[in-house]
Amino acid sequence: MYVENLYLENYRNFEKISIELNEKLNLFIGDNAQGKTNLIEAIFYISIGRSFRFSKDSNLIMFEKDRNYIKIKVQRRKDTKEIEVEINKDKNKTYKINKVTLEKNSELVGIVNIVVFSPDNLDLIKGSPGDRRKFLNIEISQLKPKYKYLLKKYKKILLQRNNLLKTINENTNNYRLLEVWDEHLIETGSQIIQYRNEFINKIKKISKKIHWELSGEKEKLSIIYKTGLGLLKNGELDYIKEKFKNKLIENREREIERGITLYGPHLDDMKIIINSKNSRYYSSQGQKRTAALSLKLSEIDIIREEKKDNPIVLLDDVLSELDNKRRSHLLKYIEEVQTIITSTDDSDLLSLLDEKDKKIFYINNGKITNIIE
Ligand SMILES: Nc1ncnc2c1ncn2[C@@H]1O[C@H](COP(=O)(O)OP(=O)(O)O)[C@@H](O)[C@H]1O
Ligand SMILES: [Mg+2]
Repeated sequence: MYVENLYLENYRNFEKISIELNEKLNLFIGDNAQGKTNLIEAIFYISIGRSFRFSKDSNLIMFEKDRNYIKIKVQRRKDTKEIEVEINKDKNKTYKINKVTLEKNSELVGIVNIVVFSPDNLDLIKGSPGDRRKFLNIEISQLKPKYKYLLKKYKKILLQRNNLLKTINENTNNYRLLEVWDEHLIETGSQIIQYRNEFINKIKKISKKIHWELSGEKEKLSIIYKTGLGLLKNGELDYIKEKFKNKLIENREREIERGITLYGPHLDDMKIIINSKNSRYYSSQGQKRTAALSLKLSEIDIIREEKKDNPIVLLDDVLSELDNKRRSHLLKYIEEVQTIITSTDDSDLLSLLDEKDKKIFYINNGKITNIIE
């Protein structure tokens, strides 16, 4: 799959641009604060339905304007799709595929698959459990249409249940009601845990292999899924539900005392371990970077396998921070894939990619010029 054309209107600092992309390699070169990350963000946004910078939708509209608009034309095995999204300050955003408005934005999910490499990927290792949950959510949402729906539902249930826990002492009838919310929480939460468990089992195997290679056969990477229920013995739904239920029953009083839900996938985490040590605390910066890179490269493999197609790869300002070996590994990995690379310095990058078929663009203050070689 690849993006043929990208059109933006009032998207952050782009007033109006239309660009034809190369099927394989595309380089966007520009100084700081010219719009490189904005461009990557726009492609991500129209494909996934959110910003990878976790900005609010209204921040994506150009200052002083009321609406923005993104359109891409994507090709997949001779089939062309046109995807459009308009974000309006006062209304909900609207998506269209081939001119037909989507009733639910979740219908978008999985049509264009994206893997983005950015300096923030390091948060996967260094950051909070919430950063790792965001990673899981974006990745699994791309692969499993039902997952995004479950997340939304779980969030609502959690909010209601927390409200109830806060007020439960005021009315004894509420105990019966709490049991009803328990059931909803368990039903939806267990499915989320099952999806995450399945995904982590996959990425664990693949990333171990990649990290081993990248580290010159010196480092063993392993990943452990630490659910908000504790460790899982197996991934069967009935087992997860049972475990969830027991946790809630055993901790009824604690939850009421604290007025908050203390167990469930909203507290999940992944432990990322390099040579038996938790990398969050004990790895060097270089090791962390390699681990993050291994996880991201694994995503490409997982998408390929599940979708029988290549994702589109976005590299936002990451090549300059990798050493030669990791850089060439990454570039070899994405040889057959449409890749959009941004960078501030060109000479190094251009000589590295000298032989390849590519398009080069310069970004300057929201304007893009295409340099024809
Ligand atoms: N909503 C917006 N409207 C107009 N300009 C914006 C908006 N949001 C960010 N910008 C501008 O975009 C620029 C940053 O672009 P960015 O893509 O992050 O730069 P870089 O090229 O360094 O990756 C800044 O100049 C910022 O003021
Ligand atoms: Mg940037």
